Amino acid sequence: MNLGDEFPNFTANTTIGEIKFHDWLGDSWGVFFSHPADFTPVCTTELARVVKLYPEFVKRNVKPIALSCDTVDSHNKWIEDLKVFAEYSGDGFPYPIISDEGRDLACQLNMLDPDEKDKDGIPLTARAVFIIDSKKKMRLSLLYPATVGRNFDEILRVLDALMLTDKHKVATPVDWKPGQAVMIQPTVSDDEAKKLFPIMTVVALPSGNKYIRQTNV
Ligand code: BEZ
Repeated sequence: MNLGDEFPNFTANTTIGEIKFHDWLGDSWGVFFSHPADFTPVCTTELARVVKLYPEFVKRNVKPIALSCDTVDSHNKWIEDLKVFAEYSGDGFPYPIISDEGRDLACQLNMLDPDEKDKDGIPLTARAVFIIDSKKKMRLSLLYPATVGRNFDEILRVLDALMLTDKHKVATPVDWKPGQAVMIQPTVSDDEAKKLFPIMTVVALPSGNKYIRQTNV
């Protein structure tokens, strides 16, 4: 699958029952992330972090959903640990966890890690992340190995950058954080840039090319 492709409208068994992915998303964005297995240390820190950050996802109209190859029964038992680890005292659990026991989705979305196997020697899911926008298009894809936990603050940062650059003809520079200056996209002519962004700073460079045009939106 490529960036911009429609994300598959799969049917899955989850901790909130069977879902059809597009219907479950509704008009929200989605963050779909896989992990190798329930009751494992790094995965526990990751899913608990998403519990803690859940209000930040809601603020942005983004629904998180997790996946591993364990059963719904196992997910539900693990959720009790996750709630304690995340110091979560609310009802239920804030987001669903998919059970992909047959690895159908893991294969379809290329999420298997050949280096990580279950007790029967069958590959487990790696740490994949997909961001899906409200039009069901895939906007970001990441694949981390089982031994390296992800940074979910970075996922929120990417969501902010994607939503901002959908709204304005700008791009976000290295290590950008919300509120900081952004770059006017190279495809915007100088005339259009002056109209769209009356306050703009052009960085002087030895080449004399005026391609770093900064603004605030
Ligand atoms: C973990 O979540 O801690 C983990 C899972 C599989 C392999 C390595 C680490």
